[in-house]
Amino acid sequence: MEKPYILPRRASIDKPLRIAVFISGSGSGLNALLNYQQTPRAHITKLIISDNINAHGLKYGYDNNIKTKIIPLPDIFDKNRQRILHEGLINIELINSKVELIVLSGYMRILTPSFVAKWKGRIINIHPSLLPDFPGVHAHRDAIQSGVKISGCTVHLVDSGVDTGMILAQREVKIIPGETIQTLQDKIKKIEHEIYPQILDLLCEGQYHPMS
Ligand code: GRF
Repeated sequence: MEKPYILPRRASIDKPLRIAVFISGSGSGLNALLNYQQTPRAHITKLIISDNINAHGLKYGYDNNIKTKIIPLPDIFDKNRQRILHEGLINIELINSKVELIVLSGYMRILTPSFVAKWKGRIINIHPSLLPDFPGVHAHRDAIQSGVKISGCTVHLVDSGVDTGMILAQREVKIIPGETIQTLQDKIKKIEHEIYPQILDLLCEGQYHPMS
């Protein structure tokens, strides 16, 4: 059977895996990861990429002296070519920085199947719901509207679907009466900031065992 993921090597604190973090917005997850990496880990952030010139999270890259690149969508009409060109520019940066694993952290674009295939098993994402429930950009709203009593977050491998890749780990939070999108988002981000670096440790150290 095909292996579910293929990291290039088992990393260690002495030889950490070189990661790139992709962001589009506030970057609180990036900030949490960079704080975590203040202590030597089996992963180290070597590159930060934002498609959004105004992303607040860019600040964390600059403050930490990490190579930080803004790569907006090229200004061309053909949407397919635009995506492919955009990812081509990103890929050059990934190669230049010898990146081994891509960590999506609030990156608001869907990657093309060809990009995902090139990085097969080496792109992870965190999503603010218990997948497969509530994929997409309105996870909190959808969870509250559905009336579920529990939501949470999911760390998963990225495939060419929207929030459909293999689930690596999940954490739950309770939805309480009167919960708003904002309060739920705040609660979930708090646990995301703990679980994502921890799962990265396990993956990079080669200790990860998929959910049974
Ligand atoms: C997080 O809730 C994450 O689950 C989702 O996007 C949000 C990013 O927040 N994919 P931030 O930009 O890290 O603050």
